Amino acid sequence: MNIDIKKILINEDEIQNKVKELASRINLDYKGRELLLLCILKGSVMFMGDLMKYVNVKSDIEFMSISSYGNSVVSSGSIRILKDLDMSVDGRDILIVEDIIDTGITLNYLCNYLRGKNAKSIEIVTLLDKPSGRKLELEAKYVGFEVGNEFVIGYGLDYAEKYRNLPYIGILNESVYRQY
Ligand code: PRP
Repeated sequence: MNIDIKKILINEDEIQNKVKELASRINLDYKGRELLLLCILKGSVMFMGDLMKYVNVKSDIEFMSISSYGNSVVSSGSIRILKDLDMSVDGRDILIVEDIIDTGITLNYLCNYLRGKNAKSIEIVTLLDKPSGRKLELEAKYVGFEVGNEFVIGYGLDYAEKYRNLPYIGILNESVYRQY
């Protein structure tokens, strides 16, 4: 295990099983329809890569990059679109693919943005949900795991841009924060 990691919270097998389970639900719900899978960079990159393999509904993929954190462990609350949509979402069934929902500020902003672009439907699949962090009311239709108040990294999630490549979700040693 990486020496910066205090604890593995969700291991690789648990993640992979959950991803398959979420994809099965999505496949049932969207049967016969066409989906637009919208990956929110960078944190959702691994989740998107795994999930889309198991989604068997006809799908387009899109990427947006929206930042609210900078290099901090707490949300700044201010949103910036770093990369916008390439295609029109007018009349599309959109499934937003997120790694984590914390305050809900990012997705609240994004859902309003997509509604303004005339999406037909907007749902959210998130691997992790941190309900204790909510500042705005927001619910994902598909949730992988609920997590507590700890700062989690790995499987796409970063601390100061590091640890995204870990195949599991873990908690960092406090000593790592002190270096920054
Ligand atoms: C994280 C995460 C979500 C958002 C959730 O992104 O990927 O998009 O924060 O937080 P919220 O519910 O409090 O708004 P971040 O801004 O860290 O960018 P990243 O995915 O590139 O790491």
